Amino acid sequence: MAYCGAVGSLSGRRALVTGAGTRLGRAIADGLADEGASVAFHCHSSRTGADEGAARARRLGRTALVLEADLADFAAARALPGRAAEALSGLDLVVNSAALFEKLPFERISEEALERIWALNFRAPFAICQAAAGLLPRPGGCIVNVLDVGAAQPWRGYAHYGASKAALAMLTRELALELAPGLRVNGVSPGTILWPAQGYDAERRALELARIPLGREGRPEDVARAVVFLATSDYVTGEILRVDGGRGI
Ligand SMILES: NC(=O)c1ccc[n+]([C@@H]2O[C@H](COP(=O)([O-])OP(=O)(O)OC[C@H]3O[C@@H](n4cnc5c(N)ncnc54)[C@H](OP(=O)(O)O)[C@@H]3O)[C@@H](O)[C@H]2O)c1
Repeated sequence: MAYCGAVGSLSGRRALVTGAGTRLGRAIADGLADEGASVAFHCHSSRTGADEGAARARRLGRTALVLEADLADFAAARALPGRAAEALSGLDLVVNSAALFEKLPFERISEEALERIWALNFRAPFAICQAAAGLLPRPGGCIVNVLDVGAAQPWRGYAHYGASKAALAMLTRELALELAPGLRVNGVSPGTILWPAQGYDAERRALELARIPLGREGRPEDVARAVVFLATSDYVTGEILRVDGGRGI
């Protein structure tokens, strides 16, 4: 996936991107590499995609490597920024993109399903932010959390997912306050960018698109561009930037 921005704005910066083996996380990591950053591509099961991303970044002349971790494990999540900092000789930027997306009627959300979503979508980024806060340079360090328009807008069938993203949105703003002035913490809230891996039928897609003022789904590069904007905008913190074609209006 090609990213086209003002190349070089992240030259010399070192970034960790979670969930960087596939889909949006991969596009974000590619976009940061295009902008000049050295990148640690985190993955869990998408090793091939992460290897491809790191190889692509190295062809651009960047330092790039792959780090595997099961982020459902709090200790493994907490250890990840340190592993990235060690491999990249420091860390300037962390992007929390890995997450679980699941539709379940409220009555059918089991304790296990709730724990699964909570572990990936809130506890893991919490642990990563906590560890990163002790590693990122002050001033200059930056965290970007990938949220969802569903963090601010309820949808039927997504009570556990939406609430987990809303919690991460609040954590983003809490940390922007608590970690200032040294660090900046922002969020990107994508709308419909890539259809869920399990697929939507044509009717469901048409319904979704009808709710988007710009009339189409977004591209992963649109999200990557927003992350680059937040990573390079030194006077922006606590901001949650929607990339949703106007859906949240
Ligand atoms: N797609 C969209 O249109 C859209 C819209 C709104 C918000 N978002 C947000 O954007 C982000 C990326 O979404 P996506 O649709 O591209 O992702 P996705 O297809 O749902 O992929 C999930 C990501 O999470 C990682 N992951 C899952 N379980 C894990 C575990 N136990 N440990 C570590 N990593 C794990 C996966 O890594 P492996 O594949 O390596 O296992 C993968 O990179 C998410 O935060 C999502 O909520 C996406």
